[in-house]
Amino acid sequence: MLNNLTDDNHSSIPIVILAGKSALDLWLKKQPKRVKNWVLASGFEANSGTTCLIANVSGNLEMVLGGAGDKKPVDLWWWSAICNNLPEGNYRLDGCLDVEEASQAALGWALAGYNFALYSSGKTEKSGPILVWPKNCDRQHVSRTVQSTFLVRDLINTPANDMGPSQLEDSARSLAKKFNAKCRVIVGEELLEANFPAIHAVGRASVNAPRLIDIKWGKGTDPKVTLVGKGVCFDSGGLDLKSAAGMKLMKKDMGGAANVLGLATMIMDAVLPIQLRVLVPAVENSVSGNAMRPSDILTMRNGQTVEIGNTDAEGRLILADALSAACEEDPKILIDMATLTGAARIALGTDLPAFFCNDDSFAQDVEAHAKKQNDPIWRLPLWKPYEKMIEGKVADLNNAPEGGYGGAITAALFLETFIKPNISWVHIDLMAWNTLTRPGRQEGGEAMSMRGLFSYLNECFS
Ligand code: BES
Ligand code: MN
Ligand code: ZN
Repeated sequence: MLNNLTDDNHSSIPIVILAGKSALDLWLKKQPKRVKNWVLASGFEANSGTTCLIANVSGNLEMVLGGAGDKKPVDLWWWSAICNNLPEGNYRLDGCLDVEEASQAALGWALAGYNFALYSSGKTEKSGPILVWPKNCDRQHVSRTVQSTFLVRDLINTPANDMGPSQLEDSARSLAKKFNAKCRVIVGEELLEANFPAIHAVGRASVNAPRLIDIKWGKGTDPKVTLVGKGVCFDSGGLDLKSAAGMKLMKKDMGGAANVLGLATMIMDAVLPIQLRVLVPAVENSVSGNAMRPSDILTMRNGQTVEIGNTDAEGRLILADALSAACEEDPKILIDMATLTGAARIALGTDLPAFFCNDDSFAQDVEAHAKKQNDPIWRLPLWKPYEKMIEGKVADLNNAPEGGYGGAITAALFLETFIKPNISWVHIDLMAWNTLTRPGRQEGGEAMSMRGLFSYLNECFS
């Protein structure tokens, strides 16, 4: 997994970080003529993310200059860019960075090594450039972050024919086993007996039966933190079918589930002193004779009734039952993550998850940690006046307000009606997908807000 980081310092090539033209000029003054002339001739100006390879007198690679421009301290994606620029070989950081910076370096480098190769037969993996573990870096933290990020990416990238509700259950079970956690799964008709009517209604049209995955870990005396993740393994839209373009990426509609499983991995691996619960309603939103219809009315787990305005607003339905179940145990903190609305992407684009929170100081802390970890999120309001929009005509609620304006907000308000008001709750509406390839972030499934949330929980509970 961490196959591009090594302990072997033998004949490693130093990477010198130079913060822009002035730092470069200063550095050049101390260099022999050979180096000075070469760097000038190459046109290297120490712009951010650029590199200059320098050979010794025998023509062997002697060192690498990494341009940081005005980007100081450099972040993890800068290190991914440098990694991408270099030929195979062993490299090390020149000089010494503090824990944060050294850890970001190792993390960015490791993430650049990700490749979803499960289905590519015959392609041989290049080994690529390797970094000597930087001094000072928090190796355990880097390892668990990389491991969790790769897990999230793999889960999302695996297509729905191999990552349906039952396979998502298998992944959750193997995770639970690894960390000695309890895992209970309620499947198919059992959902009705156990009072999860919405999860059943959304998922019953698929041959891969709907289910609720429920993982519990930690000491009973520690504070309760519950994570809920939207696990729609494929979202066809149901009877209000999506267009071809709208359906294309919908294997990623379990991105919330993948992200909470990634966050849970980090929590359990770090043995945070919390009582963790992870709830993943796992379904396929499919079409069949028994599919949920527009205008059907569901009675939810908590007794509220919901008129189905659109079967494509399925995420909020399955989350509602899971959130109700979560609140029954009065967790101290409740976090849900979901690829819930296209509207959140229209508002903030694909890289910036929207988050909603019923507790201002909690929101500020979460936002600050997200920023510090280079894992930004942006708060949107739980705007009470829009509650009118989610009212049903003949039932308590409607799952798909007409017009669609403020769609991310109305979806969040819908969820809020299932939350006990005294529980600190964060809802994250995320893309979970890189739409284009950048250094360290290959096109495809992505962990978003996981590092920031872990940082918050780690500070809060240790
Ligand atoms: N999974 C989609 C939301 C989505 C679409 C997320 C594209 C990221 C990218 C969700 O289930 C959905 O279809 N939402 C509808 C709700 C509408 C029918 C009220 C939407 O956002 O259009
Ligand atoms: Mn949908
Ligand atoms: Zn969906």
